[in-house]
Amino acid sequence: MTACGQLTFTIQHEWVSFDRLPTETMTRGPMHIETNVDLQPFNTFGLPARAHTLIRIRSEAGLAQVVRNPVYAAAPKFVLGGGSNVVFRESVPHVILKVEITGRRLFRENPTEWIVEAGAGENWHELVAWTLANGWPGLENLALIPGTVGAAPIQNIGAYGVEFNDRFLSLDAVDLTSGQPVSLSAEQCCLSYRDSVFKKTLAGRCLVTRVRLKLPRPWRAVLDYPDLRRRQTALGSAAPDAGEVFEWVCASRRAKLPDPEQIGNAGSFFKNPVVERERHCTLLAREPNMVSYPLTDGRFKLSAGWMIEACGWKGRHLGHVGVYDRQALVLINLGGASHGELMTLAEAVQDSVYDRFGIRLEIEPVVL
Ligand code: EPU
Repeated sequence: MTACGQLTFTIQHEWVSFDRLPTETMTRGPMHIETNVDLQPFNTFGLPARAHTLIRIRSEAGLAQVVRNPVYAAAPKFVLGGGSNVVFRESVPHVILKVEITGRRLFRENPTEWIVEAGAGENWHELVAWTLANGWPGLENLALIPGTVGAAPIQNIGAYGVEFNDRFLSLDAVDLTSGQPVSLSAEQCCLSYRDSVFKKTLAGRCLVTRVRLKLPRPWRAVLDYPDLRRRQTALGSAAPDAGEVFEWVCASRRAKLPDPEQIGNAGSFFKNPVVERERHCTLLAREPNMVSYPLTDGRFKLSAGWMIEACGWKGRHLGHVGVYDRQALVLINLGGASHGELMTLAEAVQDSVYDRFGIRLEIEPVVL
């Protein structure tokens, strides 16, 4: 093992010497440290990348040890969950903190809600399935979203008419500068569409360790999403239970979105842009078929997938990357893709959409 004390993080370009770093693993108390790590298995897009150091965080004690260790104190750190919302460059200069804190339990219950707590390293979909199996419904619309529980609040995951925010109570985290544990309420996390305080003022500052969710009692199905309504009508199921909704969501996702185990991808690659009412009116006059949704604050969310398709990108390939042929919001790895190819495609899509609609699409995953 290269003595950790010899690694210099203040010089970020230290990573040029990756080749000379041995690939090794060391366990020191609760710390599990690996050097010169292949990150390809740790990102669902399957991009080739290497990190100088990766530390597996399996407990709060392990994390405290990392934060207190002077070797890592000055290092830029990146918190990694399931790697489903990240785009790695070939060389990642950060110390990767891979969150593997597990555990899930019914934290509390009262006549109006079940409160469930889960470790940040738990798989999100498995948590959803576990709550249903225990008779605590409410997360079924968020089934099959790839990634971990700890990543869910960062981008406020959402699908099929429900956002994480709708079920979120509070979380525990550790301040990566001071090592202090903190508890944050839903309000303090400032969750909004694919956004949170962790992408703004607390970016890079916190590692989420545990999350608490509140599942309302009595349960009510959320079936506003057109595809769920269609399935309900087709099956003639007047009052579906949570298990049925879970199955419909899984079927709908499987039909539209590529399984990262089969085709590398990072889910939606762009956010749906939100525009003011006047801008929406002007656009609609020019593009009468444009798909959009009114928001409660008077603004409109535009379907980026529709705009990308309208620009002729759906199903197109560029080198080893492409735009998925069943959902244009998803960019895919055709095998052997590089970071450069992916970003070239992303920019070409952004440019086309800008040229036609005057809107610059924002990339959704974190580009590191
Ligand atoms: N559409 C097209 N062409 C496309 C894709 C979409 O015309 O290629 C139009 C269709 O009219 C479709 C509408 O856009 O009915 C909405 O499409 P979809 O239901 O697939 O939803 P989305 O807005 O494109 C969002 C989330 C997805 C989530 C779905 C379902 C974002 C960035 N994406 O996509 O989340 O699964 O809604 O709720 O908000 C993810 O974040 O990784 C993700 C997959």
